[in-house]
This record gives sequence, structure tokens and C-alpha cells, in this order.
Amino acid sequence: MPAAPVPTPPMLLPLPGEEARAARLASALGWRLGQPELRRFPDGESAVRADPAVAGAPAVLVASLDRPDDKLVPLLLLAAAAREAGATQVVLLAPYLPYMRQDIAFRPGETASAFHVGTWGARHFDALVTVDPHLHRIHDLQQAWPVAQCRVLQAAPLLAAWIARELPRPLLVGPDEESAQWVADVAARCGAPHVVLAKQRRGDRDVQVSVPDVERWRDHQPVLVDDICSTARTMIETVHHLLAAGLAPPVCLAVHGLFAGDAYAELQAAGAARIVSTDSVAHASNGIGLDAVLLQGLSALNFG
Ligand code: R5P
Repeated sequence: MPAAPVPTPPMLLPLPGEEARAARLASALGWRLGQPELRRFPDGESAVRADPAVAGAPAVLVASLDRPDDKLVPLLLLAAAAREAGATQVVLLAPYLPYMRQDIAFRPGETASAFHVGTWGARHFDALVTVDPHLHRIHDLQQAWPVAQCRVLQAAPLLAAWIARELPRPLLVGPDEESAQWVADVAARCGAPHVVLAKQRRGDRDVQVSVPDVERWRDHQPVLVDDICSTARTMIETVHHLLAAGLAPPVCLAVHGLFAGDAYAELQAAGAARIVSTDSVAHASNGIGLDAVLLQGLSALNFG
């Protein structure tokens, strides 16, 4: 009886800036690293070409989607190109998944962008692998991204290991109720106490944070943990309140360090002892690599 044909290994197709990550993951998984071409026409439109060698195998597009409005058009075009080139499945590996905070219309006339972006994506991708998407009012990512396979990975074990390795007597602090899920999980994993504060957002850059009874933690090292640091207003207000309460300068830990505009410098100036993010989005604050969890997520995909 002839031996069953060996399936062609999946091919990782990195978007610009993701080449090194894709090469590491391909090497660790024994998958192939493709050479997609992306460029702009003189009028600013995107021109893409999938690696033709993707034919007959799954394609995994690697794209962390900070600055999403610059990236979504080339991403969706490359997904279409990969399928037309003969990819058997098209997967999106997006360590940072954008638009998840716009999960309702906050004012009449607005729209819940999360669902629109997810629907666009689901038209082109069979599977999505991402890390700690901002699931607040959306509890199941597939509600927004209706793809056949969704792998939601957690950075919590890596954050907890980093805290346990780097910081004595940590007190984990969640700047708002939405952060409670990350903070409680990370605290439990590193055996540290945690508190969650109350936040009121009055505008894009106007955030008020109130601190309940923090004086009892004076001999601890505060560690602010949040999923996203964008304008950093949430962390800056929290740093101010913790310092005013007489606590030590806090370490600020973000899963996704977006740091819009001068946010990073402003958070440093506010008195953060250290600012550390995972490498979901390339930034000077990156101190925690996500490869271990990304490898788990990719290995768990079913290419049946
Ligand atoms: C809130 O919903 C998120 O969990 C973060 O707290 C928020 O995105 C941080 O935003 P910013 O850095 O702009 O205050």
C-alpha cells in the first residue's frame, strides 16, 4: 500500500515589521517562511503578492495590528491573494487585535466598530490567533470575529513569571474594573495581592482614577497591569494617585504598549519606576516576549 502523502507544512507570511517574529516561529515549528511582497502604488493604494509557494498549504499571515488603519487594507488584500494562490486555509496571527474597545455605539450616530472590523476579517480568514483581545462587553471573540477557529491566548503566565523574577513584594494594581480580569489572574499566578481601582473616562485624554484604601500596602512594590496602554492617561492618573498615597513609584506593565504620541515620555515623567510591555507591538518598552504563547496557539490550530 503506498504511503500517505506528507502534507506540505504551513507557510508564515509576515507583513512589514513582522519578519523576525515570523522567522523565529517558522523555525520553532518547522513551518515555511514565505516572502510576500507589499508595496504602495504612487497614488498610495496597496499592491500585494502572496508567495506562490503557498499553494496547497495553509497560509498564516503574521501582522500585529497597531496603527490598524494603515495595515488593514494590505492585510485583507494579502489574505485574498494567498487564497487565490492556492492556500488551503488562511490564518491571521495578530498578537495585538485592534478595534476591540469600540464594542458599542457610545453616542447616537456612532457604530460598534469591533463587529464591522471582525466581519471584514472573517470574510478573508478561516482562523484567528491573538493575545488578550480587549473583551469587555464582547465576551466571546467569535461574536465579533466569526471565523471557524479562534485561539485567544493569554499573556498572564508570562507577566506573572516576569513579576516573580524581577520584583520583590509586588502589589498588583488594576487601574479600572475592565482590568480586573488580567490583574486577578496575574496576581494569582505569582501569588501576589491585588487591588482594582475605579476609573471614570470623561474624554479621550481625560481620565479620573480613585484609589480605595491603598495606605495599607506601603511596604509593597505597586505594579500597574493593564491590557492596553494607548494615551497612557489611565496609567498616568493611577501613578499620580499611588504616589500621592505615599506608595513607592509603580512599575507599569502593559500587554499591548501602543503608546500614542508622547504617551511613553509622559508616563515616564509621571513617575513610573519602570515601563514594560510584551512584544505584541514593537516598542522600546518591550521586555516580555510572546513567542512561547504564540507557538502554543499556532500548534493548536486544526488544519484538518
Ligand atoms: C480600557 O478599556 C483598557 O483596558 C485600557 O485601560 C485603556 O485602553 C487604556 O487607554 P489609555 O492608555 O488611553 O488610558
